[in-house]
Amino acid sequence: MGPTQLQLCILVAILAAISLVYSQTTPLFPVACELNVLIVLDRSDSVKGGFNKSRKFVTDVSEELQIGPDKHRVAMVVYSGNSYRREILPWNFAKTNEEFVRITNGLRAIGGTTNTKKALEVALDLMQQRNRSIATLVLVVTDGRSAVDPKEPAQRLQRELNTWVFAAATGEPEKVDRRELLDITGNINHIVMHSGRELATDITRRLLREAQERCRPTTTTTTTTTTTTPPITGCEIDLVLVIDFSTTTDPIYQMYKSMATRLVDALKIGHRFTQVAVVTFATVGRTRVKFNLKKYEKKEDIINAINGLKSTGGTTALGEGIKAGLTQTDEKEGARPGIATRVMVVFTDGWSNKGPDPGKMAKEALQQQFELYSVAIKERFPNSVTVNNQTLQDVAQDGAHFYDERTYNYLIDRIRQRNLPCMNMS
Ligand SMILES: *[C@@H]1O[C@H](CO)[C@@H](O)[C@H](O)[C@H]1NC(C)=O
Ligand SMILES: *[C@@H]1O[C@H](CO)[C@@H](O)[C@H](O)[C@H]1NC(C)=O
Ligand SMILES: *[C@@H]1O[C@H](CO)[C@@H](O)[C@H](O)[C@H]1NC(C)=O
Repeated sequence: MGPTQLQLCILVAILAAISLVYSQTTPLFPVACELNVLIVLDRSDSVKGGFNKSRKFVTDVSEELQIGPDKHRVAMVVYSGNSYRREILPWNFAKTNEEFVRITNGLRAIGGTTNTKKALEVALDLMQQRNRSIATLVLVVTDGRSAVDPKEPAQRLQRELNTWVFAAATGEPEKVDRRELLDITGNINHIVMHSGRELATDITRRLLREAQERCRPTTTTTTTTTTTTPPITGCEIDLVLVIDFSTTTDPIYQMYKSMATRLVDALKIGHRFTQVAVVTFATVGRTRVKFNLKKYEKKEDIINAINGLKSTGGTTALGEGIKAGLTQTDEKEGARPGIATRVMVVFTDGWSNKGPDPGKMAKEALQQQFELYSVAIKERFPNSVTVNNQTLQDVAQDGAHFYDERTYNYLIDRIRQRNLPCMNMS
């Protein structure tokens, strides 16, 4: 190796070192696919309903994370004043996003003063138990009205290696003690509040999303390709449409088809957005996945495929239809577990006379983390039967997930919400 080559090597090494340091210090948010996320949540509810807002903030923001022991590991301190019980939820207390939301939604406001100093000391203890090989995001959610100055433990938190401390206030900006939030974060850019029309939630979600977009989801199985998995958009839905094609609904199945296509038409379709599978059911033996989640990437193709479906007639095996829908949790079918929201919409009159119990299968779907909707046509036609309200309600996850042709547009809107942020993406 000649001297010029040696010089070149040294130069490259120095540049590499500089860019490494640079990339570690510049990002506003830690860019890491694996992350410790420690949430310090004030539950004192000094403003009526304030805690509910903060809790909603936390669950909304969690949608940008992929919570799990190998991805985003969460811990949480929920606190108010000294004389009230603190909840200390250790690292990995939630192993999935759903579990995190369920546990967080179970938290209630309690009154009293706010002692953020003590909460941050507890947070420091939790920090000692974190996995130090990965970056840590500390998110303190409070309006900054601590009875005891939190500055000292806050500064110790800020000095922890590879750690970003953020503070978020969900209340009205003018009621927020900015000074204290600045003490907590040590950095004005790490304070998130409503600004203009933008809610603190939206700002935080955007920051997180930008950071997390660089993370490519790695699949856990070795059978699927992991080479060109695109970044997460947050708009991923694995949508399974389960349609009753038995004779009992003979005049009605065309309406199911047109409702199904209207839903598809309103969504953003694609591998990074909504993927659609269709199951039709009639007799047990005639229940099938007409196409799975990965079959079509284009909206027109899905709509054409649905329009081409023909009723087969026979008995009605509603439970079997839902069961077939559950196959669409498999990565081999194109499912994106841990990334996509699972949604199942069952179009049926609610009558079932063959196959597994629909209520039981619906429970199974909920366990598999599907959002589960039922849709019935209530209008009467010659030869049509009245709908079986009981089964329709058993099948929907609750009364609020049970629609008919008059309310169907609300269902479309509801599912579409998840795709709205991505409508202009390609
Ligand atoms: C906060 O949420 C709980 C349920 O999660 C509810 O019972 C309570 O009424 C809500 N409080 C306010 C002030 O909205
Ligand atoms: C910490 O995280 C790294 C990266 O995921 C992992 O390899 C390591 O096993 C973890 N350490 C502990 C003690 O869990
Ligand atoms: C189901 O509810 C509709 C009104 O929502 C009613 O017209 C119909 O009779 C009910 N059917 C049964 C079987 O109870």
